[in-house]
Amino acid sequence: MEPAAPEAPVMLVTGGSGSIGRVIAAQALAAGWRVALHGRSDASAERAVAGLAGAGLAGAGVTRAGLAAARLTAAEDAVRGFGADMTDPAAIARLVADVARWAGRIDAVVDCATTGPKGARITGLFAETEPEGYGAFLALSIGAVQHLAHAALPWLRRQGGSFIAFASDAGRFAGARQSLIGASRAGIIGFVRNLAVEVARDGVRVHCVSPGFVADTDSARRLAAHNGDRVVKAAKKAGLGLPTPEDIAPLVLFLCGDGARRITGQVISVNGGMNA
Ligand SMILES: NC(=O)c1ccc[n+]([C@@H]2O[C@H](COP(=O)([O-])OP(=O)(O)OC[C@H]3O[C@@H](n4cnc5c(N)ncnc54)[C@H](OP(=O)(O)O)[C@@H]3O)[C@@H](O)[C@H]2O)c1
Repeated sequence: MEPAAPEAPVMLVTGGSGSIGRVIAAQALAAGWRVALHGRSDASAERAVAGLAGAGLAGAGVTRAGLAAARLTAAEDAVRGFGADMTDPAAIARLVADVARWAGRIDAVVDCATTGPKGARITGLFAETEPEGYGAFLALSIGAVQHLAHAALPWLRRQGGSFIAFASDAGRFAGARQSLIGASRAGIIGFVRNLAVEVARDGVRVHCVSPGFVADTDSARRLAAHNGDRVVKAAKKAGLGLPTPEDIAPLVLFLCGDGARRITGQVISVNGGMNA
């Protein structure tokens, strides 16, 4: 594979320091994209970039040839870290402007960042959640996607491009203990599908990727530590096996690629057959 050329398409992966975003960034680099990798802070973004340039790619579903190419492109400034607090609309606007200044173009934005008040209890049985957290959680989790899309659209319109939001199957399929997450994810799905129709004539495509339970992620490891039974149950329900980030990244690359140029407004679950 050739190293990324200066005119290579540019992907901003928000939450690129996280479990799923890191693998998307790695596979995008290996496929020849230039990657702006976002984390909550400059330090976490830079740590993730350092990981990509080193052994981190090997575990990201990247082939040996891709690994070699990505190391090469990383050395040639094909990837750069950007820190921004996604709960702050001004920081989101600055992030997009900084990426555009660095790369001169933005062809895809993939939002893998998780936001929301960390202290408030918004998961679990609804009766046990904390009402004082509802408003902030909804505003932050849907608002961050909207602010990011608003800032990125002028850049995506220039040459046509893609915006991929991450939702979750809690927004598509009913289940206990998911009512607040479900409301926020359904909000993101509604936003994305309506926006897709509106911006199609500008050559911009908009999708939602909707994971169910993703193995090999920090959140899966946290759940396994607290409630191993739920992980075992999820694995039993997923007839194809629980997906990992390596199963999600190829879908994102396809949706952002030329092969998907006539596809928009889709909400695609990656759940190993847990829900259909
Ligand atoms: N993992 C799953 O099983 C699963 C299931 C369904 C849906 N999803 C969705 O998939 C997406 C990616 O999930 P993941 O498992 O990769 O998440 P993750 O490992 O927890 O990563 C979260 C990312 O969001 C960033 N972030 C958190 N708070 C932020 C803030 N206030 N401002 C800016 N960035 C912030 C983190 O940055 P730092 O690293 O700097 O903290 C990190 O890059 C999320 O939308 C998640 O809801 C995941």
